[in-house]
Amino acid sequence: MNIIDTRAIAKRYVMGTEVVEALKSITISIEKGEYVAFMGPSGSGKSTLMNIIGCLDSPTSGQYILNNQDVSRMGENELAETRNKEIGFVFQTFNLLPRQTSLENVALPLIYAGFNKADRTEKAMLALKNVGLENRAGHRPNELSGGQRQRVAVARALVNDPSILLADEPTGNLDSKTSYEIMDLFDQIHSKGNTVIMVTHEEDIAEYAHRIVRLRDGLVETDLLNKNIRKAKALIQALD
Ligand SMILES: Nc1ncnc2c1ncn2[C@@H]1O[C@H](COP(=O)(O)OP(=O)(O)O)[C@@H](O)[C@H]1O
Ligand SMILES: [Mg+2]
Repeated sequence: MNIIDTRAIAKRYVMGTEVVEALKSITISIEKGEYVAFMGPSGSGKSTLMNIIGCLDSPTSGQYILNNQDVSRMGENELAETRNKEIGFVFQTFNLLPRQTSLENVALPLIYAGFNKADRTEKAMLALKNVGLENRAGHRPNELSGGQRQRVAVARALVNDPSILLADEPTGNLDSKTSYEIMDLFDQIHSKGNTVIMVTHEEDIAEYAHRIVRLRDGLVETDLLNKNIRKAKALIQALD
């Protein structure tokens, strides 16, 4: 079953007399449980596409079907509701609230979802435990390493139990070792049945995905399965 279907999605930005065609026509289908990387040069439209897939933005034209719902026709409120339910988002710059503790940051989406305080605390603690940070619940972002901050962001993205994890350059601000730790975490999340989509410009990070879509000038240049050793290894393990 396709969880994501975009049909000839275009996005134009008008800035004074200049029109930027960030996306020209993107048609892609992603099945539930896939692990996809979007690659491509700076300015090729990766973030624009992620924001549309994540219901943070709407296409100028074309259709976007998310979980059998036509998202391209939704208004702001419906879009926000769908986003809360279906999507967890992780960003390059973590986007944590600086004055709030890890626990408070992770619990934030649960306020919008209408949970009471006791439930929020319980769910947020569990989400922190799942990323190995239950002992950093009371720390503020500036008391955490970059990798730990991104783990808090991942916990926040997953606390509502969304079906899709979207990550725009999740390792862009991390060193190699920490990047691989975050990718191991993504592997765990994916192996639990989640659909994972990430943007990266690093080939070794993209290798974690099972499918690599390359964008160029607002179009899909290639869309290929990632036939690498890592995946073959995983399959052999699964067969054992
Ligand atoms: N809010 C915006 N207003 C105007 N132009 C934008 C906006 N967001 C992105 N763009 C333009 O759209 C193109 C694609 O941007 P983006 O999706 O951020 O690319 P990428 O993430 O691949 O680097 C770029 O030319 C960028 O300048
Ligand atoms: Mg970008």
